[in-house]
Amino acid sequence: MDTIEAIVGRRNIKQFKSEPIAEATWKKWLEAASYAPNHRMNQPWEILVIGEETRAKLNHRPNFGDAPLVLAIVSQGSEKPVERDENLVATSAFIQNFCLAAHAEGAGTRWTSIGNTPNAREILGVSDETATIWVLGVGYPLEVPEVKERAPIETKTRQLS
Ligand SMILES: Cc1cc2nc3c(=O)[nH]c(=O)nc-3n(C[C@H](O)[C@H](O)[C@H](O)COP(=O)(O)O)c2cc1C
Repeated sequence: MDTIEAIVGRRNIKQFKSEPIAEATWKKWLEAASYAPNHRMNQPWEILVIGEETRAKLNHRPNFGDAPLVLAIVSQGSEKPVERDENLVATSAFIQNFCLAAHAEGAGTRWTSIGNTPNAREILGVSDETATIWVLGVGYPLEVPEVKERAPIETKTRQLS
């Protein structure tokens, strides 16, 4: 699969097969993800591997689509808005890299925002309120949703003099 095919073909997976992903495989995707660009090489991401107990406490209603693996990615916070933004951008690149690595190898990811509720922060033990947390279900897709068409890029592009 070439890069453009991977980017365009990746979908947010709603439901997964029960088949587990080998630890060496998802760790390889994380390792690859860490080559994301980041300012001053601060690598502002931290990965929390969610165990059964924590997963039950998070009580995600669709249970991350029954994904066999759930990861929380914490983007380091900062009181300085510029630093926080930069961290979040770098961590987003990390997450996208991870999602693409998984997709390129026949797996999929379900990106959720549930990590940022006060309750989830407490369960995940993230006390820094300026940090952001993204929770990913990871597994082999049971089904792949239809593509959601994007606006033509011309409508998002402006030429400046
Ligand atoms: C920051 C962020 C937060 C997201 N949070 C959720 C979420 O809470 N629940 C969900 O179903 N999808 C979530 N998504 C996934 C989007 O809904 C999904 O990417 C979008 O609908 C486009 O679909 P596609 O990724 O399959 O192309 C999130 C995506 C991003 C980037």
